[in-house]
Parts: sequence; structure tokens; C-alpha cells
Amino acid sequence: MNLATRTTRITPSPTLQLSATVKSLVAQGQQVFNFTAGEPWLDSPDEAKDAAISAIQAGFTKYTAVTGIDELKDAIIEKFTRDQGLTYSRAQIVVSCGAKHTLFNLALALFETGDEVIIPAPYWVSYPEQILVADATPVFLPTSESENFAIDLSTLKNLITERTKAIILNSPCNPTGSMYTRKTLEGIASLAIQHNLLVISDEIYEQMVYDDHHHCSIATVHPDMAQQTVIVNGVSKTYSMTGWRIGYAAGPEPILKAMGNIQSQSTSNPTSIAQKAAVGAMQGGRTYIDHLVKELDIRRRAIVTGFNQIEGIHCPMPAGAFYAFPNITGLLGRRYQGQVLSTPFDLANFFLNEAKVACVPGEPFGTNAHLRFSYTESLPVIEEGLQQLTQAIARLE
Ligand SMILES: Cc1ncc(COP(=O)(O)O)c(C=O)c1O
Repeated sequence: MNLATRTTRITPSPTLQLSATVKSLVAQGQQVFNFTAGEPWLDSPDEAKDAAISAIQAGFTKYTAVTGIDELKDAIIEKFTRDQGLTYSRAQIVVSCGAKHTLFNLALALFETGDEVIIPAPYWVSYPEQILVADATPVFLPTSESENFAIDLSTLKNLITERTKAIILNSPCNPTGSMYTRKTLEGIASLAIQHNLLVISDEIYEQMVYDDHHHCSIATVHPDMAQQTVIVNGVSKTYSMTGWRIGYAAGPEPILKAMGNIQSQSTSNPTSIAQKAAVGAMQGGRTYIDHLVKELDIRRRAIVTGFNQIEGIHCPMPAGAFYAFPNITGLLGRRYQGQVLSTPFDLANFFLNEAKVACVPGEPFGTNAHLRFSYTESLPVIEEGLQQLTQAIARLE
């Protein structure tokens, strides 16, 4: 039996694969300092758990409206009004089984053969793969660490062709931790308006911002932009609810309607109980989020300071999300037991085998110069992990 060619275009999620490898090492009794996880350590908020338990007890366990229950849509609409000053109707919201599913629906609703979609690199691993599944072509927009991975508008302009259909933005960014300034977003918006491009704005890390950085959605920077933007968000990161699988999109009604139709022929509604849990979380106020971000900030400083004390590593301070993105070019080319470590992948393997430190190599994010470390681990694990790395690096020739 021949598989469809689209299956040959894509690779399985490397981050989920790595997390699985680490879990199996741990199950075998090995101690691993695990920096691969794309999720906070906190338990989901009580408000979410209580709402889910009540939903089960009340028998709220049947199919719901495909695109989400009104109660959740209203909580999402309220969030957009409160946090971004944006106004949406229920018909402009689709709730899906996680933001990854939201993005997948979006790719299927929008893209086809011949379409080009611009993705700033480094990028989240699933964007190019989802575009490829939809038979379209990802076009990478290079950014540089020395410019905080900001988008250079003239580079962006040069990549726009008649086939360009959309640009995907992710601010705060996984994996770089960088955020786009309002000025940059205004520049992107004016190009998007001029060339009639849709902007897909993945704002899943919107709440995880540090120091004096502020999240700004491109949908808000120009009166016409809300009609040209689909915002993607969800409860996974903000409320440590990765397993509940609730993500959502907001944007122009025809696009959201098409996404809903696609979803109606695949998963139908997201889990009824999880939707109720998301309502509970979203109505729960800011205490949970503020605690999470405060803790993350402490871990962010610890890991970045630690990395910058290790010879051969340079680590910029991330403005948002929860990933450190150390530049490891100073270590590439060194040898361990006669083997040259020439790529981030080689180095990540060396760290896993020799330091029992697990991280994600840069290649699937579109960089040959970095590793990604999630700093959702506790401070003692971060400190011990850094120490293990330092010792392992000292053994390199
Ligand atoms: C940038 C980005 N977008 C979307 C997602 C998907 O989140 P979920 O499907 O858990 O809602 C992730 C998860 O790692 C992410 O990092």
C-alpha cells in the first residue's frame, strides 16, 4: 500500500518525540534533567478542575456545538475585549482541540498548492509541517540574534510574491523568546494591507512577558488589521492546561466558518468537559497567571545567567515565553572521544548521554546555532542541570 505523498513531506514533532525519549529514560530509573517540556509545571487552576468535575457530575458529557459552547466563546470574547480592546462575535470564534489543532484547521482552510506562506525563522516546529500538509510552500524569513530576532521589513518585502497568502507571527516566540515591537508590527501591518496578506498571529505565550515588555497584537495596530488577522491562542500555556486540549481562533467570519466546517468533519467539538474547564480557568482572575509568570521570571534569570557563565555558550535574555535559546556555536567543532560535535543535534545528544541533560536541538526550529531549553523546571533542577553541562563541556577537546 502506497502512502499519500503528503506523509513523505512531513516529519513527526521532534519536541514531542524528545519528551517521550526522556520520559522513557526516567521510567527506566535514570535521572534526567529535562529541559524539553513545552509546558509549565503547575497543576491546572482549581477553577478549571472544579468546573470539569461539575460538568461530569451534571452529565455535560455529550456532543456540543462543533465550534465550541457559547459560554466558552463568551469568555474568549470577553478576554479579547479586556486584554486587546478587540471586538468579536461568536461567529468569529472557533474553539478546537488545542492551538495546534486550531493552526491545522487554519492551514487546511486557507492554503493549497501554489500558495506561499512566510514564516520568520527560527520558528515553532509545526508551522512549516502544517503548511506542507496543506500542499503549500513555507518561505522562511531569516532573522538574526544580534537584532533580537526582529523582522527586517525590507527582507520581508523582498520575500512577498504574487503567491504569498499569509505570514505567521509568533510573539512572544517559541523558541527565541523574542517579541515584536509595536513599530515592527505596524510595518508588517502596512505590508500586509498593501499586498492583501493574511496575518496568522499565534499569541499562545501572550501572558508570559517579563521586565518592561508588553504584548501587542498585530490585530490592534491598524483599524483594518483585525479584518486581516486570525489570532490563535489557547489555555495550554497560560493556565498550565496542556492536556485538556483547548485552543481557539478569532478573526474574519468567512475564514472561521471554513475552519468550523473542516473541524465538523474531523474531530467535531473539543471535549465537552475540557471546554467547561477552560471557562473556569478564563473566569478565574489573574492570581494564577501572575504567580506563574513571577516564578517563570525567576527561573528565566537563573538559567540565562548560568548559561552566560559557561565557556562557549552565549545566551540572550528572552523577553517572553518560557524558553532560553543559547547560542552554542562556540562549542561546535569540539570533540568528544574522537567524535566531532558539529551540529546542535550532535551537541544535544552529547548533553543527553554525558550530562543527562535533555534539550531540543536547533535544527527543527530552523537554526544551526542554538539549542532550546524550557525553563519550566525548578530552580534546583536548573542549577544542577547547568552544573552537569559545565562538567560535560569541560570534557570536550
Ligand atoms: C508557538 C506555539 N503555538 C502553538 C502551540 C500549541 O499549543 P496547544 O496545542 O497545546 O494549545 C505551541 C505549543 O507548544 C506553541 O509553542
